[in-house]
Amino acid sequence: MSVHNSINKGKEITVTIDGKVCQSTFGKTILDIARENDIYIPTMCYLTKVQPIASCRMCIVDVEGVDGMILSCQEKATDGAVVNTQNDELNKERQNIMKLYNVNHPLECGVCDKSGECDLQNKTMEFGLEEQAFTARDQHRPVENWGHVSYDPALCIMCEKCVRVSTEITGDEALKIKFGGYGSTIINTKQDKNYASLGEAAAVCPVGALVSTDFKYTSNAWELEKIPSACPHCGGGCQMNYEVKNDRIYRVTNAFEFSNLCGAGRYGFDYANENVSKDAKAFSSAVEAFENAQSILFSSQTSNEEALILQKLKEERGYKLVSHEARSYQKFMQAYSSITGKSLYGGTLKGISESRAVIVLGTKINDDSPTVKYHINMASKWHRARVAYMHPLEDSEIQNIVTQFIKYEAGSEEGVAALLVETLLKDVEVPKGIRAFLDDLDIGNLSAESNVGEEELAFLAKSLIKKSGFSLVVGSDLYTHPKAGQIAKLLALLEQYAGFNVVCVPPAGNAMGISLICDLDDEKEGKTVGYNVPADFTLSALGDGDLDMPAMNQQEGTLTTNDKRVVPMNVALPYGGYVLNDIANELGLDAEYTIEYTRELPTEKGFEAQDFDNLPDFFDAVGNEHRGYLLKSVKISVSRTLEELSDIDGFDGAVIYNCDPTEQFSAFTAKCKSLETEAFLLGSQQFATATKLQDGESISYTVDGVRFDRVFKLDTSMKGTIALNPTFDMGLSASLLSSYRFSRLDFERAGK
Ligand code: SF4
Ligand code: SF4
Ligand code: FES
Repeated sequence: MSVHNSINKGKEITVTIDGKVCQSTFGKTILDIARENDIYIPTMCYLTKVQPIASCRMCIVDVEGVDGMILSCQEKATDGAVVNTQNDELNKERQNIMKLYNVNHPLECGVCDKSGECDLQNKTMEFGLEEQAFTARDQHRPVENWGHVSYDPALCIMCEKCVRVSTEITGDEALKIKFGGYGSTIINTKQDKNYASLGEAAAVCPVGALVSTDFKYTSNAWELEKIPSACPHCGGGCQMNYEVKNDRIYRVTNAFEFSNLCGAGRYGFDYANENVSKDAKAFSSAVEAFENAQSILFSSQTSNEEALILQKLKEERGYKLVSHEARSYQKFMQAYSSITGKSLYGGTLKGISESRAVIVLGTKINDDSPTVKYHINMASKWHRARVAYMHPLEDSEIQNIVTQFIKYEAGSEEGVAALLVETLLKDVEVPKGIRAFLDDLDIGNLSAESNVGEEELAFLAKSLIKKSGFSLVVGSDLYTHPKAGQIAKLLALLEQYAGFNVVCVPPAGNAMGISLICDLDDEKEGKTVGYNVPADFTLSALGDGDLDMPAMNQQEGTLTTNDKRVVPMNVALPYGGYVLNDIANELGLDAEYTIEYTRELPTEKGFEAQDFDNLPDFFDAVGNEHRGYLLKSVKISVSRTLEELSDIDGFDGAVIYNCDPTEQFSAFTAKCKSLETEAFLLGSQQFATATKLQDGESISYTVDGVRFDRVFKLDTSMKGTIALNPTFDMGLSASLLSSYRFSRLDFERAGK
């Protein structure tokens, strides 16, 4: 940004567009201001969520006193400008552009998947083109099947949107332009990876050139009912629409102009608990089990309203409420808040994408939270942000955006957090007690124990000099760490005193909502009822328990997202069985529908007393999000005390790390056909040597009482002695895992 621009940014300006006086701020384009004021300017290549592509010229306007036609999508408006968006000359030019787009683009839309929602079709009609004015000799260019998506070069208008999404948003960087004049085409340079994130690139394609392979030729767009909802898988709660016909979900789409979905959200929709009817006997057994139980175990796949029902039952009946992921997150955030004095972390996803430097600590972010990774990618692409990735395992999938990988020993996160904070707060004013704590740290020892070199930290600190806008992204390795509370307090200092945009990514599902609504316990006692967790009596949305429950896409309710928003989820598919609310009513609560609890969500925790049916669910013309509402951060009493650091209990020998492969999060994503993945214990040659395991060997081991029977698979691209232990295929028992994500591997060979 030039000095002039940065000085004026945000200054109020007045622009007249088509005679309408529009107030706005400096820095916005003419197109932005027109859209803010409901003035239509046609576009073909413009996609709000990426930088202007400026390749189509459809958005041309006249600016009085300026020669030639101006591209409104990239031209910043100046104070006092008088703009005309419609006149004969502009319309003629736009018609000519459409004529060129239609050269050899077969307008036989009846056979095209995009018919009914195609930009080219719509604009051809809008500009009154009744015939194809020109043709050129076409070459035969066959359709290419790239796995999740298919590409038809004959339909491609080379608008570049897909390439920009693949580069600027998802960061898979698979799609590129192959230049060749009239024969220019899009190529997939990473076909071997079969990235599901390409679904996001297909979503923005304005024509039928890039489409989802599974959806192709299955239905006309206009026959599908669009049901707006939120993705329940990773904690992102991303905006989505289920597109449904005859009680079947055909596809998932999204408000692609402004928001994003990862492959799990887009392709992981076929996990409903189907063909369930009301089983009165099982229902009365369930009520009896609740009457006799002392503890309720439940997973993160629980809506805010269901969490409130469980909390109310606890208040009535004194249950222990146990939800491991949510509990560890709750304790972490309680400690974090004791430093900041606020109930929620201060950072936002937008803050990440606007950063000039991002530090990621304690999460395999590419797999744990795809859209958070997308925002880090945006910062990297738009602001050339430095990205420091601190983790015991290198991740080749984010190599393209990571500028510094800082590897530490598994188990040493407390020491790493202390080193990081000491480095970053060196020249920052902090209270005396905290300065004394930092001054007392034995840096040499911490560095030796964690394996993080002092020179690495010095390099990190140096690279941040002269930058502003820092983000810190932390994740669930830290929440389950034995010293999670102390780690949380240390990292909170960066938000409190150094102004970091900190995002504590919730571990999965609705863990954040549950952690705010429920008074959770650490341990169960006595007889147990499990909701999507195995127990003495199990309610299961997988259909394998004692009483069936609806899956998330069969429920109404709200989720709390990693951007601190409470968003509505709607019913995509019918469900004929009982729901948790039916049981609660038998136990003395009183609500006809689960969503009656939406307005009772605890306002003292930042929720609003709003009726479910009044929650908005849309993006406006310029991309402002109106989905549900933002949680309020409430005041928490402060106690800025740090404990002395404990000895670092690192791991040596063979270690496993509970981590799912990309696009897998739970037993529900595991059910989805498009996401089918085999689960292996995946490790390097070094791990194989340390454990004397052969590629393909079957072993058994136990983590938190859950038995894993796994085949070991050698991955020569991996390094070190930590193997990846997926949990998504473990059915409901994955929710029993509660301890630190890394553990020593103690295994038995098959047949022994
Ligand atoms: S495939 Fe679609 S989005 Fe990509 S350049 Fe072609 S028309 Fe544009
Ligand atoms: S899995 Fe997470 S990142 Fe992916 S679409 Fe769902 S909520 Fe968004
Ligand atoms: S929308 Fe402006 S050049 Fe395409």
